[in-house]
Amino acid sequence: MAEKKYSRREFIKTNSLTGLGAVVTIGMKQSSTGVNIRTAHLPALLGGSPVRTKGWPGWPVWDSSTDEDLVLKVLRSGSWTRGNVVAEFEKKWAETVGAKRALAVVNGTNALIASLNQFDIGAGDEVIIGPYTFISTIICILQNGAMPVFVDTDPDTFQIDADKIEARVTARTRAILPAHTLGMPADMEKIMQIATKHNLIVVENACLSWLAEINHKKVGTFGNAGCFSFQTSKNIPIGEGGAIVSDDDKFMDRCYSYHNYGNPYGSVVLPAGVTGGTVMTGTKLRIAEYQAAIGLAQLKRLEKQTDTRNENTQYLKSKLDKIPGIVPFKLSNNVTRISAWQFPFRYKKESFQGLSRADFLKALRAEGIPGSTGYVTQNDKPYLKSYFETKNYRKMYSRKTLDFTKFLERNQCPENNLLCEEAVWFSQNMLLGTREDMDDIVMAVEKIYKSAGELKSADK
Ligand SMILES: Cc1ncc(COP(=O)(O)O)c(C=O)c1O
Repeated sequence: MAEKKYSRREFIKTNSLTGLGAVVTIGMKQSSTGVNIRTAHLPALLGGSPVRTKGWPGWPVWDSSTDEDLVLKVLRSGSWTRGNVVAEFEKKWAETVGAKRALAVVNGTNALIASLNQFDIGAGDEVIIGPYTFISTIICILQNGAMPVFVDTDPDTFQIDADKIEARVTARTRAILPAHTLGMPADMEKIMQIATKHNLIVVENACLSWLAEINHKKVGTFGNAGCFSFQTSKNIPIGEGGAIVSDDDKFMDRCYSYHNYGNPYGSVVLPAGVTGGTVMTGTKLRIAEYQAAIGLAQLKRLEKQTDTRNENTQYLKSKLDKIPGIVPFKLSNNVTRISAWQFPFRYKKESFQGLSRADFLKALRAEGIPGSTGYVTQNDKPYLKSYFETKNYRKMYSRKTLDFTKFLERNQCPENNLLCEEAVWFSQNMLLGTREDMDDIVMAVEKIYKSAGELKSADK
């Protein structure tokens, strides 16, 4: 007997939990013409047909007319070290985010290290951060000899819980370093109020938030400085690269000098009567001209790609929100734009008959939908202890301050611990797909939801 074929749209309409509210979801078999209904309802791990067999949009994206032309031009010029192309990229990046100035540096990690360094944040200073972030947020504090102070995460928004910051401010607090986690803005309005009240520096870790906005103002421009990453997995990929932005000319002159061995720059001048040589402590963080050329090419597609990801994110959120046990991220009311780098949600295994997150992800992968577990906790990791055991830290801090057991007690983040156990991410390249690609994700999750009990038993 011939199998009935359904178009994707028909199928979703008639079978989806999020469509007409039918209780029974039947999965689908991916084919160019339609759906094989016979094996479709079974999860792929239980012998059914996967929702999807085709791949996802690749990353990074480039083309011959923009990227290759610009890079070849630099290559053929023979001028590869920092020059006009880097300066042009900096100008465009400053314009893009609405900052007075931008400085391109080798990566986001070093943008953060340099920024704290040039605000003279170091020994004895405390810097407040959220723990749901990449290790660079903490490394930049430790590399400067300062002390990280963790404030728990708001599990709804996945961001630092701004309402818990003030309780962690002490006489030693010098700065707040909010990370705009995964491309969603932290609540900068609240954070800036606290910073102003306590006279604190704010360095925004906008490494994942290239065009995100709060009340139409780009993140990275709220604090004293903002730092960005252009590493390959990021929404504006250069291979490796980063930037510091700020409206503070003196700070930016110092950052420039610091990124160029400490050579004079702008207001950073040699003492009277001295000719040649460096002025201040510095290092080398310059990017090459061909890196900037790739950056200029990538910038041309950033707006459109951001819109595509954001539209897909909104759609996916509206659909996944309806599946019990799937809790997508929320945004604070003042957010006017995000720059989705991941689509994060909390996976509540209680609603999936106790199916573990690892098994949920395994089942998803079998349906052709790759997901990841995202961040691990940062506030309890051995690298912190190993910094505290260095000669520098032992000279800078008392034994009591460096007592790791006490540090762990002071920096507990229970909401974040749970979030790290529950989170699931879909990556930015998937969000560049079509509406139908998003439907595939929804269908796969629904299919697993309906058969969670069987999947759990099968795993035993
Ligand atoms: C939140 C966050 N901060 C900082 C960085 C560091 O950026 P880079 O890899 O350019 O050093 C990353 C990189 O993934 C990040 O996710």
